[in-house]
Amino acid sequence: MTDRLHEQKVLILDFGSQYTQNIARKVRECQVYCEIHPCTIPLDKIVEFNAKGIILSGGPASVLDPSSPLCDPKLFELEVPVLGICYGMQLITQLLGGKVNPSDHREFGRAELMLKEFSHLFEGVRNNSIVWMSHGDRISKLPNDFKSIAFTGNSPLAAIENPIAKIYGLQFHPEVVHTLEGEKILKNFLFKICECSTNWKMESLVEFMIENIRQQVGNEKVICGLSGGVDSSVAAVLIHKAIGDNLYCMFIDNGLLRTGEKEKVEKTFRDNFNINLDVLDASDKFLNKLAGITDPEQKRKSIGNTFIEVFEEEAKRLGNFTFLAQGTLYPDVIESVSFKGPSAVIKSHHNVGGLPEKMNLKLLEPFRELFKDEVRKLGKEMDISDEIINRQPFPGPGLAIRILGNITRDRLDILRAADKIILEEIKKAGLYNDLWQSFAVLLPVKTVGVMGDSRTYENVIAIRAVTSTDGMTADWAHLPYELLGTFSNRIINEVHGVNRVVYDISSKPPGTIEWE
Ligand code: XMP
Repeated sequence: MTDRLHEQKVLILDFGSQYTQNIARKVRECQVYCEIHPCTIPLDKIVEFNAKGIILSGGPASVLDPSSPLCDPKLFELEVPVLGICYGMQLITQLLGGKVNPSDHREFGRAELMLKEFSHLFEGVRNNSIVWMSHGDRISKLPNDFKSIAFTGNSPLAAIENPIAKIYGLQFHPEVVHTLEGEKILKNFLFKICECSTNWKMESLVEFMIENIRQQVGNEKVICGLSGGVDSSVAAVLIHKAIGDNLYCMFIDNGLLRTGEKEKVEKTFRDNFNINLDVLDASDKFLNKLAGITDPEQKRKSIGNTFIEVFEEEAKRLGNFTFLAQGTLYPDVIESVSFKGPSAVIKSHHNVGGLPEKMNLKLLEPFRELFKDEVRKLGKEMDISDEIINRQPFPGPGLAIRILGNITRDRLDILRAADKIILEEIKKAGLYNDLWQSFAVLLPVKTVGVMGDSRTYENVIAIRAVTSTDGMTADWAHLPYELLGTFSNRIINEVHGVNRVVYDISSKPPGTIEWE
């Protein structure tokens, strides 16, 4: 895109570091637009990108390994400032004629950075500032015209520069929180060295995106599947601002929703935002098809297929659509372009995959360049309530993957009632926003209990509450005992058919967040 907002962009070349996305998020927090591309991107594309600065990420490989990832060395001749981080710094060294050797002292974790001489990169940074190291190899000879500008106990060359060519290297990671003055260092690179100006601001972004959507869509009609989650909600409001009544939203009640979910979506979108909203009760269809299925993957597939069928039928009834709006985020886009290894399918995630081709629809994905926290900021900018913006994730297959074994209406009622109590109590304790997710699971076993003077033989509810930053890994939440006690008391007293409550204390890995 060649426009005002993308003029000042920074290119991040990905060498496979787990922190590459962190670099991008930090750069954008400094209000500078950036994109991540695989390190193998050809030189003409780099030239075309027209970056104000280039950042080479870290990576798990060693530059000493002949099969390690490379970038085109001609990028150093483009007269664009370059910052190499960790692997990126060692690659700069090797490609520009220096020497890297394996080291006896591997250095991981915290180190104190001692500054040697003035560098724009460290302006305003304290001496002995804490930085986060992670490397095995070490530079033994610098390329010509480079000098060392900082060292640590184990690294005589913790930071290097060629100030004339504006090429810099850091052996530590400025993009992680443990590097206390990392943000200052990145800002120095962006503003003092690359001379970027700030223009990646949410206020201007809303206007810019609205204009883009108008241009892309023209007078055509757009259909958007609403789930009630953050991404599709913010997408719907944004697209509605752009094209008004040419947007139709569809909310499918699959019978697997939590208490009050459908009403909340209707109220928000139809009443508050005045968006065309079609609410379809397809619960019979979904539940009939699920009857008797107990295998988790079969459940997911059945729900996914039914969703496509129902969506297609209803969209045809509503009108003639050219676009399908989706809340695809930047991390999903990078996942598909970066050189990630093949990974095993743990769970078939339910999304609207398959729909666009089947229905011959073009995709409208306004958030393809955004991270989740940016979508949240955008939502706030458009006055979407905190209740929607800060919602915990809820899986597409809904309560079906939280009822182990057979799914029946009775079992759904039990789970809904228990789940409602958990949500109420978590909110009352002020913990809702601290947790990635907190919910109830209905187990396929019965246990013996005693209530009054009688024997009971009833269901077990498990409580799952986790902390996480991205859902990829998670820890079970160390909730106060009193709160766990309240869950148990209320659920057993108020939910008919439950006589036992247990708390799940598994982290991910090895347990996943959802039980199925
Ligand atoms: P797991 O259970 O794999 O879940 O640890 C990680 C995160 O993904 C959510 N999840 C889903 N979200 N469709 C979705 O939209 C799905 O099929 C699905 N399965 C799991 C889960 O709630 C957690 O936040």
